[in-house]
Amino acid sequence: MSATVKIRSLTPPDITARKGQAPIVSLTAYSTPVARLVDPHCDFVLVGDSVGMVVHGLTSTLGVTLDMMIMHAKAVRRGVQRALLVVDMPFGSYEQSPAQAFANASRIMAETGCGAVKLEGGEKMAETIHFLVERGIPVMAHIGLTPQAVNAFGGYKVQGRGADGARIMRDAVAITEAGAFAVVVEKVHDALARDITRKIAIPTIGIGASADCDGQILVVDDMLGLFTDFRPSFVKRYLEMGEEAGKAIAAYADDVRKRSFPGPEHVYGDQPAGANKS
Ligand code: KIV
Repeated sequence: MSATVKIRSLTPPDITARKGQAPIVSLTAYSTPVARLVDPHCDFVLVGDSVGMVVHGLTSTLGVTLDMMIMHAKAVRRGVQRALLVVDMPFGSYEQSPAQAFANASRIMAETGCGAVKLEGGEKMAETIHFLVERGIPVMAHIGLTPQAVNAFGGYKVQGRGADGARIMRDAVAITEAGAFAVVVEKVHDALARDITRKIAIPTIGIGASADCDGQILVVDDMLGLFTDFRPSFVKRYLEMGEEAGKAIAAYADDVRKRSFPGPEHVYGDQPAGANKS
């Protein structure tokens, strides 16, 4: 008799409990095959609204819709077993009121089976975070450079180098008090990210922040070298997949033009009885 062993997924409280422990590992994913690759190595997998730029060719995350997020999150859900699945709330889906945020966050949770949502903003979003958390929706916050506000920032600039450091610290404290279970800290001055990590009781997840954050996240296509429109210095390229894929595609085109593909092993000719070529 064979027993099916169900792998237990990590939960938001598991992530919060990792504060000050072994670093929390995270990557984004937008599809089932990539989710299957990252799941064994990650504590949480984020379906980021970076999908708009990385997969759909948008120039910012502002054009990403709730339906796009839900479609990609459903695909990622099918590939994630162990990690906590977190889904970004897209621009315009939560800022208007806590009630608007609840309607859209509950739809994301119900339709995708994710374990938490992420939304951008600090002090200004604290009331909304509290509202969602009180109603059973775990929230990961996102402070520092919040890409949905790229126009207000005047570009993807480093945050917290000057007087804005005090505001970002207030943001960190406010979202912690509101009940967020963790917070992404993006593109902020190293020392500020370290100070925030020391001060607040929930894990900080750095991206372009500090090695002293409680965890790190990268956009998977960035670290694989597949998305090359931007090359921020905070990304370490572990592979040049775009370059390698380009070479493979050129080799295929060459083979087709020379008629060396398909070869005999790729075509269906007469086969001996019982041979099973798929
Ligand atoms: O959208 C995204 O991928 C993100 C991460 C970069 C943190 O928010």
